[in-house]
Amino acid sequence: MDNLLDNIEEILLMGPGPSCVHDTVYEALSRKTLGHLDPYFIRIMDAIKHDLRTLLNTGNTLTIPMSGTGSSGMEACFVNLIEKDDPVLILINGVFGMRMQDVAQRLGARVDTLEFEWGTPVIASEVQAKLVDTSYKIVAVVHAETSTGVKNPVQEIGALLKNSETIYLVDAVTSLGGIEIAMDAWGVDALYSGTQKCLSCPPGLAPLSFSEKAVSALESRKNKVPNWYLDLSMIIKYWKGATRAYHHTAPINMHYGLYQALQLIMEEGPDNVYHRHRVCHEELVQGLESLGLSMLVAPGDRLPMLNSVRIPEGVDEAAVRGTLLNEYKIEIGAGLGPLAGKIWRIGLMGHTARQENVSRLLTALKAILF
Ligand SMILES: Cc1ncc(COP(=O)(O)O)c(C=O)c1O
Repeated sequence: MDNLLDNIEEILLMGPGPSCVHDTVYEALSRKTLGHLDPYFIRIMDAIKHDLRTLLNTGNTLTIPMSGTGSSGMEACFVNLIEKDDPVLILINGVFGMRMQDVAQRLGARVDTLEFEWGTPVIASEVQAKLVDTSYKIVAVVHAETSTGVKNPVQEIGALLKNSETIYLVDAVTSLGGIEIAMDAWGVDALYSGTQKCLSCPPGLAPLSFSEKAVSALESRKNKVPNWYLDLSMIIKYWKGATRAYHHTAPINMHYGLYQALQLIMEEGPDNVYHRHRVCHEELVQGLESLGLSMLVAPGDRLPMLNSVRIPEGVDEAAVRGTLLNEYKIEIGAGLGPLAGKIWRIGLMGHTARQENVSRLLTALKAILF
């Protein structure tokens, strides 16, 4: 009988995630499964917390990977922090800001939004003007908007919220491991990410970090967190202290993978990793422009790890992606929402951000388009 796993091809993942996975991460995933309360596994958990804190530049004790993909991190942040009728401001310039709005509305928050054109960043002065009228419990923004390739001014927005009661919530799903994050210095109180972007691990865990301010909002809730699985007040008892309490069975091998992915980043040095992303991004943009293609986002607002390229007139964008995948074994992403059919999204995330991958894609695109 055929085993479908025997026929999985190696695809160069240059889309919006997942990204390429280093061989040592695959090896880590296949190590022997330990019990979720085994003391040796707890050492691995502690090392993951330590490395996540280093990468986030935070001293936050509550820094852990949540089980589930990036969206579980998003849900966890909102469900633990929102109570019914809480005023929340969401800054939206793409799909993932919209998803935050949906999540917050489902929890009964009074959600205000500030919207910006897709492909352009959030404008901090407009946020400042909005903050004059209302005192929000949470202000939320996406750092790296994967649907457009725009970097939002997380640090500037944080400066507006410093010394206020407001909890500053940031989506770092695509930014973590690809550009600098200084959680404490920027005044970020709650942050979530995902493993399958610049951490270059398969999808399955969502790193999350809460500041003291966010933890005290959780502790002073009037009502129980309305979602059992994501309730941090219970989960933290599994991640902290000398005796660990069972909450749910941790996805053990996924943690091995994340541990190894973080080891790789620490060995290379986070600054060197960010530099590698930037250099590959610059080479890609230069190569695309020399093919006559143009970028959606203005130079100063571009993400190195997600490059949105305008589709030239008359080109069948899906056919190009199909040929790239079938003949060249390269995956790139399509546009979403209002950008569907207008852009391709080229990822240079984590282990994918290598000069040989940039050259391989440019060569393939040239052969297909000309
Ligand atoms: C910025 C951002 N936020 C949230 C998510 C949701 O993460 P996931 O698909 O891992 O649940 C994604 C996924 O692409 C993302 O790019």
